[in-house]
Amino acid sequence: MNQGKRVGIIGAGNVGATVAYSLAVRGSCHEIILRDNKIDIAKGKALDMSQAASAVRSHTVVTVAEDMSELTNCDVVVVTAGSPRMPGMSRDDLLMVNAHITKEVVRGVAKYSPNAVIIMVSNPLDAMTYVALKESGFNRSKVIGMAGVLDSSRMAAFIQEKLGYGGGQIRASVMGGHGDDMVPLPRYSTVAGVPLTDLLSEEEIVEVVTRTRHGGAEIVNYLKNASAYYAPAKSTSIMVEAILKDTKQIYPCAVALDGEYGYEDIVSGVPTMLGSNGAEKIIEITLDEKEKQMFSKSCASVSRLIDTLNQNNFFKENSTK
Ligand code: NAI
Ligand code: 2OP
Repeated sequence: MNQGKRVGIIGAGNVGATVAYSLAVRGSCHEIILRDNKIDIAKGKALDMSQAASAVRSHTVVTVAEDMSELTNCDVVVVTAGSPRMPGMSRDDLLMVNAHITKEVVRGVAKYSPNAVIIMVSNPLDAMTYVALKESGFNRSKVIGMAGVLDSSRMAAFIQEKLGYGGGQIRASVMGGHGDDMVPLPRYSTVAGVPLTDLLSEEEIVEVVTRTRHGGAEIVNYLKNASAYYAPAKSTSIMVEAILKDTKQIYPCAVALDGEYGYEDIVSGVPTMLGSNGAEKIIEITLDEKEKQMFSKSCASVSRLIDTLNQNNFFKENSTK
């Protein structure tokens, strides 16, 4: 499948390495190139994954770029490079640290893989997708953030748990930013085509929505020093494959809005058709007043982060820190 396709993965930590593993054992592309500051760790993981690929008779090879200049001619580049929150750091500190890392790496992507579609994963996701868009200079269709696939998968899992049936038949829908203000949409969620609102009570739906909004934190509370990575990585690899295979399927993706839903110069999660050119179409669904208000609140949260970047002259700086 897809002989000749190259996927770059920047940040070979928990999420990046698991995306690579998933793609390697499925034979989703010809080559996966890992890039991480910790070069030996990346080399060890690349060897291990190439051997896993051999075990399942996959043709995919996993290599390492010791420098961004070796991350050439990729069709898709996934960015998971980032710093976790350290003791004493504010949320804004993390924003600035990861924004500088994102700036550094996407400039490299623009230089060495100018035709790639970038999938951002690093947090805060919507703001980092905005940074990647501005710093790569790419068309907005070529810079996409992963969050909605994950958040809607979490919602589907919580619905299954609540119902006790329907696994594999649940289509949950989440829009908006990847934060506490995300917008789970019960009205657009179904189980084997049956509206969720016919299957769960209002109270039960509120419980599912609340748990979805805090789905990431629930896992961090158990893992302590790490955040979720199996579902985030699988969600990312689904998007990578949709682009490599030009499936034209619709997934909730973080994209720059240019008038859609009445917003512009902001990144938020909306239903998006993925194909070889990236985010090929944004689907505008009808939102009721309450859903519009939630979407507006979510966009305002992302705007505040972008304002912080502007107040720190982030987009005016040429050098990286
Ligand atoms: P991790 O700490 O395991 O991996 C991050 C990797 O980035 C490390 O290996 C580190 O060495 C590398 N790195 C840091 N700076 C770099 C640079 N300049 N160039 C190359 N590599 C660099 O973290 P994990 O769990 O893999 O998460 C990665 C990011 O994804 C975090 O920001 C996390 O919050 C975010 N995330 C986002 C999700 C989403 O839904 N969008 C879901 C899960 C995680
Ligand atoms: C998550 O939702 C940390 O954004 C990450 O698991």
